[in-house]
Amino acid sequence: MSRRPLVAGNWKLNHLIGASIETASSVKGLLTAPSALDIVVCPVFTALQSVAETLQGSPIEVGGQNCYVKESGAFTGEVSPQMLLDAGCAWVIIGHSERRHIFGETDTLLNEKLKFARSAGLKVMFCIGETLEEREAGKMNDVLSRQVSKGLEGIDPGQFDGIAIAYEPVWAIGTGVTATPQQAQDAHAFVRGLLNSQLGGTIADTVRIQYGGSVKPDNAAELMRNPDVDGFLVGGAALKADSFAAIVNAAI
Ligand code: PGA
Repeated sequence: MSRRPLVAGNWKLNHLIGASIETASSVKGLLTAPSALDIVVCPVFTALQSVAETLQGSPIEVGGQNCYVKESGAFTGEVSPQMLLDAGCAWVIIGHSERRHIFGETDTLLNEKLKFARSAGLKVMFCIGETLEEREAGKMNDVLSRQVSKGLEGIDPGQFDGIAIAYEPVWAIGTGVTATPQQAQDAHAFVRGLLNSQLGGTIADTVRIQYGGSVKPDNAAELMRNPDVDGFLVGGAALKADSFAAIVNAAI
C-alpha cells in the first residue's frame, strides 16, 4: 500500500513573526519535488496568518499546534478550529506529548478536540507515544492501545481521510535520541494493527503514520525506508529552513 508521505514542522513556542515568515519562505525555495508529498508548517498562533500569506500558492500548508473544543465564547486563552481556518490553516496538531504532559490534556479531551476539529474541516495530526518509563516497564503497547482507542473513539469513518497519526515516543522528543528504524517500524506496525482491529482494513491501510522524535536530515531517509513510516513530525530540526527542507526532500 503506498501512502502519500506527510512531513510537518512543529515550531512549538519559537520564532517571532519575522523569523516565521523568513523560515517559511526559505523552505519554499529549497524543496526539490514538493508536489510529491504533503508538507505542513505549524508556527505559533500569532504568526499563522503571516505564514499562510507567505505560503499562498505554494504546496506547503499551514497548521495550528492546538485548538479548543468550542467555536467561540468565554474560554480565555483558547483558539477554535474555525479561527485557525480563518487564519489560513488547513491542519492542526492534537495531543502532542507536551500538551498531554505539561498541560494535562486527557485522552477524553483530546478525543473531543479531534472530533471538533474534523467537523470544522481541519485536518488533524493526532499524536501518541509512550514515555521511557512506560517503555521500560513493558507498557508501551498498552499505552499506545489506550491512546488510540480513546483518542479515536466515536470518530465517523468518513473523517479518517483527514486524520494522520504521529507516533512520537516521548523519550525521543527533543532529546537527540532517535528511535532506531526497527523501533519505529515495530511501533508503527503495532499502531496500524490497532487501526485494523478497531476500524478495519481500509482505514488501517490508508491512514498515514508519521514518526516524530529527533528526526534529522541524516536519519530521515533510513527511517522513511520502513514500510509503515509515512512521514515525519519534526520539532527542533524544523526551525531551520535548510534542515527541514532536507528532511522533506529525504521523505519522497
Ligand atoms: P523533536 O520534536 O524533533 O525536536 O524531537 C518532535 C516533536 O515534538 O514533534
